[in-house]
Amino acid sequence: MAKDNGDGLAAIAGRIGVVGSVVLNVATLAIYLRGRFLLSAAAAAEKQASKKVKKAAAVAPSSGKPPVLPDSVIVLDHGDPTMFETFWRGPIGESATLVIPAWQTMSYFSDVGNLCWFLEPSFEREVRRLHRIVGNATTEGYHVLVGTGSSQLFQAALYALAPPTSDAPISVVSPTPFYSMYPFMTDFLNSGLYRWAGDANAFDGNDYIEVVCSPNNPDGGIHEAVLKSKSGKTIYDLAYYWPQYTPITHMLAHDIMLFTVSKCTGHAGTRIGWALVKDKEVAQKMNKFMELNTIGVSKDAQLRAAKILEAVVDGYERQPTTTAAVGGDANLLFHYARRKMTSRWRTLRDAVAASDIFSLPEEVAGFCTFTKDTAIANPAFAWLRCEKQEVEDLESFLRENKIITRGGTKFGAGRKVVRISMVDTDEAFGIFVDRLATMK
Ligand SMILES: Cc1ncc(COP(=O)(O)O)c(C=O)c1O
Repeated sequence: MAKDNGDGLAAIAGRIGVVGSVVLNVATLAIYLRGRFLLSAAAAAEKQASKKVKKAAAVAPSSGKPPVLPDSVIVLDHGDPTMFETFWRGPIGESATLVIPAWQTMSYFSDVGNLCWFLEPSFEREVRRLHRIVGNATTEGYHVLVGTGSSQLFQAALYALAPPTSDAPISVVSPTPFYSMYPFMTDFLNSGLYRWAGDANAFDGNDYIEVVCSPNNPDGGIHEAVLKSKSGKTIYDLAYYWPQYTPITHMLAHDIMLFTVSKCTGHAGTRIGWALVKDKEVAQKMNKFMELNTIGVSKDAQLRAAKILEAVVDGYERQPTTTAAVGGDANLLFHYARRKMTSRWRTLRDAVAASDIFSLPEEVAGFCTFTKDTAIANPAFAWLRCEKQEVEDLESFLRENKIITRGGTKFGAGRKVVRISMVDTDEAFGIFVDRLATMK
């Protein structure tokens, strides 16, 4: 029995040993397999995550210019309207968000019954609504044309206004100081239809295209055409005729008026501008230019611009302008931007006074029919002059101090004056004024 028992125990022990070893092996195998599974699951998850990141990166927008530090080079050469970003990060930004499904906006055509067949009806509607509420330009009886920025519409207008058959190109002029891009855009393709001819005040003749920029880039001046010939043509570039830059004093009704979301809402990257054109034939010719130049204008960009303009106008319809002082301006683009610009101009004037070697154009004010109060003008650019005799080239002088500006000669003016963007980020603007204040 004992033997039996012993044998039995030994046998049992042996069986237990075998079973134990099998269990152990199975357990080890299970752990191993589980480990393998976990490892491969983790690897798969990681792969998936990295795929997602890559996918997101593929559609994520660029972040624009790099951030600045106190010792950075500050670039205020372009009127890049990044100042507006904080407004659009606010409550109203959500309502201007737009998702475009893949199957939409595929056709070349937007509105085949319209003279401008690539104009999105919602964009046209919001443009008209915006002008009605601001009261800066009449749209009644005007054709609305859309362009890839107002830059494209400027070229379309030159094409439309230039006589098609003429011995010599027509002269394109603008009073000095003029927007530095006009000469380049006019002469870029060396057209036989039109040619840059400089300062409108120095022009002698009856046939011309005068470009009137008001408020003027670079100096903020409010302008009317300086030339008065009956056969002369005029293009009004009203990129800055919005309440944040100047009091709105008149509902303008010129033959060709150019506007852009770049300066109105700050969405320069959307590349959308519009023209209000009185004459049908001129509108048709401008449209022809756009057809041949780019076969229309991005519908995606137009829809985005429409959504943004809609958010601006809705903001004002929900909150009357008279309540801005109590209700705040987080939903009122022009009030927000005017407050911000006013504060920047005050800071700049203080810095100029502290330095004592610079001067700025006089501050001007007027009654604004939009906000129904007296408001000062806050140009999008500072036209800064150096009064120090030794400084002959202000652009170079500022560059030595790591401030990049655009020198006066590009605007048909002298080297003692420069144009400086007032619509850049808070950080860049802050560093710029701090540096300026200490210059002697
Ligand atoms: C006076 C003026 N007109 C037109 C433009 C061009 O605007 P867009 O971005 O719509 O091409 C600018 C841009 O700085 C400008 O200052």
